[in-house]
Amino acid sequence: MTNGNGNHSATSHQSGLHVAIIMDGSGRWATARGLPRAAGHRAGRAAVRRAVATALECGIGVLTLFTFSTDNWGRPESEISELMGTFEDFFSLDAPVLAGRGARVTVIGRRDRLPASLQDAIENAEAASRAAGKLHVRFAIDYSGRDAILNAARRLQQTNDDTAETFTLLLAEAEHAGEPARDVDLLIRTGGEQRLSNCPLWEIAYAELYFTPCLWPDFGPAELDAAMQEFHTRHRRFGALPAMV
Ligand code: IPE
Ligand code: IPE
Ligand code: MG
Repeated sequence: MTNGNGNHSATSHQSGLHVAIIMDGSGRWATARGLPRAAGHRAGRAAVRRAVATALECGIGVLTLFTFSTDNWGRPESEISELMGTFEDFFSLDAPVLAGRGARVTVIGRRDRLPASLQDAIENAEAASRAAGKLHVRFAIDYSGRDAILNAARRLQQTNDDTAETFTLLLAEAEHAGEPARDVDLLIRTGGEQRLSNCPLWEIAYAELYFTPCLWPDFGPAELDAAMQEFHTRHRRFGALPAMV
């Protein structure tokens, strides 16, 4: 896999691309196999491990994974409990392995509504991976793009500086992100739907959009590679004319 310069190299997360993925389709993946939806979420955990391993090798600096939206609390309690258990397993068992390979793991979104044991697992994974510098993986959990913007707007009212730079800092605070990440370069949605479903909205203002019918548990290195190849064929103009960029 190549980066924007045609080099086959991973870069530090300060300079690499920011790729965001709306990981959708795990429920349908399971249903199509006659399995309970929870089996799809467990298979989705393996796909996360694969995606992080691939991202470590292909010039991605920041990987934001939309994992659980504030709207997903509307699902049956049994599915929510399975999801929270799967997340906890990921942060306890998978994150340390990925950290050893250079992936720093953090979580954006509200944290106070998550089970205490998951909050602990997240804090441990964040602390243990803080020094990992090859890739920054941000999991958006109990996340709403609109709530994040609204919370940042409330914070902005308390200041007398209404610049976009300050707003971006306040948004990172509102998302519990610590420092802001660079804007999203490429937004991938698996599972065939072509919508945003309240993902990080401010950050995707100029993202290239890539929709694939591939269900999340089937997403692997070849699919991420295809998305990256497609990204590198896009001409980003940021409102200017082609010759000016
Ligand atoms: C995404 O997969 C995971 C979450 C939203 C938590 P889904 O669970 O939405 O899978 P589908 O869309 O029903 O197949
Ligand atoms: C989007 O998937 C949210 C996440 C992947 C976390 P959903 O399945 O919740 O979105 P809708 O309901 O199809 O819009
Ligand atoms: Mg879905």
